[in-house]
Order: sequence, then structure tokens, then C-alpha cells
Amino acid sequence: MIPAYSSQATPRRRTIAIANQKGGVGKTTTAVNLGAGLAQKGFRTLVIDLDIQSNTTHVLFRPLDEHEEGMCEMILDERKLDSIIRETATPNLFLAPSGESLVHADLNLAAMMGRDSILRFCLDSEVVNGFDFVLIDTSPYLGLLTINALVAADYVLVPVSCEFLPLLGIKWLLRTIRQVREKLHPHLAILGYVLTMYDRREGITKDVEDILRDQFGDDVFDTRIRVNTKHKAAPSEHKTIYQYEGSASARGSFDYNRLTTEFLERLEAKENPSPASTGTTDQPATSPVERSAPEAPGGAAVVVAPPAQPVAPGTTDPGATHPASPLPPLAQPSPGEVAASSGGPVGTVVEQQVSPPASREAPATSASIGGQGGREAAVGEQGDPSGSAGTAA
Ligand SMILES: Nc1ncnc2c1ncn2[C@@H]1O[C@H](COP(=O)(O)OP(=O)(O)OP(=O)(O)O)[C@@H](O)[C@H]1O
Ligand SMILES: [Mg+2]
Repeated sequence: MIPAYSSQATPRRRTIAIANQKGGVGKTTTAVNLGAGLAQKGFRTLVIDLDIQSNTTHVLFRPLDEHEEGMCEMILDERKLDSIIRETATPNLFLAPSGESLVHADLNLAAMMGRDSILRFCLDSEVVNGFDFVLIDTSPYLGLLTINALVAADYVLVPVSCEFLPLLGIKWLLRTIRQVREKLHPHLAILGYVLTMYDRREGITKDVEDILRDQFGDDVFDTRIRVNTKHKAAPSEHKTIYQYEGSASARGSFDYNRLTTEFLERLEAKENPSPASTGTTDQPATSPVERSAPEAPGGAAVVVAPPAQPVAPGTTDPGATHPASPLPPLAQPSPGEVAASSGGPVGTVVEQQVSPPASREAPATSASIGGQGGREAAVGEQGDPSGSAGTAA
């Protein structure tokens, strides 16, 4: 059962689409472990598996049986998600799973009325609105399912593996986000870009980082998710990185815990842009966001019921907030503010400036690589433990 709220006030869920149509960049790994990180800090978090490969479902639960309902059925039947939400082995972490049927969803969505906004409707229930965070893991292509995720989301988080090809994918993602803003959801904002599979021994890692930071500046998370073979092994045991490594100081757990803290700080800064909320990522463990909760080593998933304490009317009121949450009410910026807060006119910047690493030797413009001699030596010298912790696993 989902535990009842300890507070009398209405929470305000934040919905984050984790998207990059390039495959294998760490979307699922980030959805699972950011979700687990938020849950460990006491935030009730729902991860929605909107990837046709159902990888998140495999990690956090198990493959759905043929007759079990998942996201496909909810979307195509235009039903609220409540009946399919499962508990996971991590307290506070829940899953809306998907099965093989999801592969048919795009095809069928195409013929549906309001086909872009159906997920948004499915999420608007007392149970789902009762979560602090909803993370949506998306598929490696920009089809209708991913459009639905963007329309349902408040923010987009973009994992980028430290290779060149994923940079090309960002261009198309940003075009799509721009179109979604223009036609469907003007308040959609980019929370940031997360470097994944970061290996400072590889020159391309720093090249990609330089390009991203040149293009998107502060929208690139300080936290880098380092390359770590444990991230490959943990899914085979249906475990989060925290469960698999079993130590908060282990490489993968450290990185994702740090990402979680920065994620919360960035949300707070975006929604309450005061000097006090724009500090560093080196948040002390005694911070209000550190509402730690132990993670169970395992456990069977069960269907959850609505919160015992009814959610008050007005759940989706932007003015409502959870007093235990460090986050203020979600501001509704104007379209102009949205563009400004997301690194300018998305689509335009990247379309014009992200260029391939033509030559590693030749000096290059600020938008390409090779322009900063000795960069590899400088990698990890920014006081960032995730970049300076030495070799890959
Ligand atoms: N930091 C990391 N270090 C090493 N391997 C990683 C890391 N993060 C993810 N992986 C592995 O890389 C592969 C791709 O990661 P993941 O499945 O999270 O990407 P994805 O973007 O969700 O892929 P897809 O687009 O296919 O859904 C997986 O085998 C995963 O275990
Ligand atoms: Mg995936």
C-alpha cells in the first residue's frame, strides 16, 4: 500500500521526461537510479516505463505476463494509471510498468483523438498526483509515445553519453521540444543535460563535455555519471545501483546520489530563482532535502491502492505544495522565459553550432572540439569527485 501522507497539505508532483532519442545513452539507468535516489531521500517517486523495450520494468519489477496490463493498455484505453502501479523493492519507489504490447502503442495512437496528450490525461489522478516526482523513461526514438511524455512533463532531463553521436541526437530532440512548446505545451522546460558513461581516460569524453558546456552552459549538470561496469550488471539482478553496490560510497551509488542532490537543487533554483537557491551542489547531508529513508534489499512488488488519506481538491493547483518538500510551487513562466531558462531558442543554437569533431589536432571554434589544449589533463580538476575519482571500473 502507498503510505498515507504525513502532511495535511496537498503535494504538487513534478513530472520529468528522461529523453534522448539516441539509444543506449543511459536513459533507463538514470530513470531507475535517480528514481531510487529520490525515494531514498524520502520523496515518493513513480517511474513510468514508456520505453518499448520495457527495460525499466525488468530492472524494478519483472517482465509482465502476457495478460498483465501495462502502460500500453492504459494509454490506448485512456485510463488512469492507478491500477497498474506497483511497489518496488525500494521504499517510496513505485513503477508503472510496460510489456511487449507497448510496441504497438505508437501505431494505434496515431488514429486517436488528442493523440499527443493522452498520457497527460492518464496521469491526472489522485494516486499519481500524490507522488512527489514522476519520472518517465522514454524510448530511443521520437515517436508519439515520446511526444506524449513531453506533453505530460514539466521538465525534460537529457542524458548524454560521452560519445559524439548522441550530440547529433540532441538536435532532433530540441526540435521536437520546440514544436511541443509551440503547439502543445508552452511551459515545458529543460532541466538539464547529464553526462553519462564519463571516462576521463578517453579524449572524446572531454570533447563532448566541452561541446555541451559551450552550447548549454549552466544547463549541463555538474555531476557526471562515470563509466562503471556495475551499471551493466545491476539490471541482471533486478537491482538499483544502490542495492547492487550496497555502499553509499561506491562509485555508481555516489554518482547517482550526487545527481539526485543536484537534481533537487536545480529544480529549486528553477522554481524559486533567488540568490539563496542558486548555491553550489555541495549540499551538506543535513540539508532539508536529505530526508533519508533506508532501502530494502528486496521484496515482492504488489499492486498499490490509492493513498489512505484522500488528496484534497485542487491537487494540480500550481500554488499547492508539499510542506515537507524543499520545492516551492511550480512557477509557470512565459514562453519567453522558458526559452531563456533553457539556454535560448532551442533548436536554433544546436542546429547551428554543434559540429562534429573534424580533427582532434586542429584548433576549432568554441562550438567544436580541439580548441582547448591540454584539456585531457584538466579533466576532473574542477573539484568534482565524479570527474576526478580516477579510473573506470
Ligand atoms: N555509467 C555507466 N557505465 C557503464 N555502463 C552504463 C552506464 N550507464 C548505463 N550503462 C549501460 O549502458 C547500456 C545502455 O544504458 P541504458 O539502457 O540506461 O540506456 P538507454 O538510453 O535507456 O538505452 P535505450 O535507448 O536502448 O533505451 C546498458 O547496458 C547500461 O547498463
Ligand atoms: Mg532505455
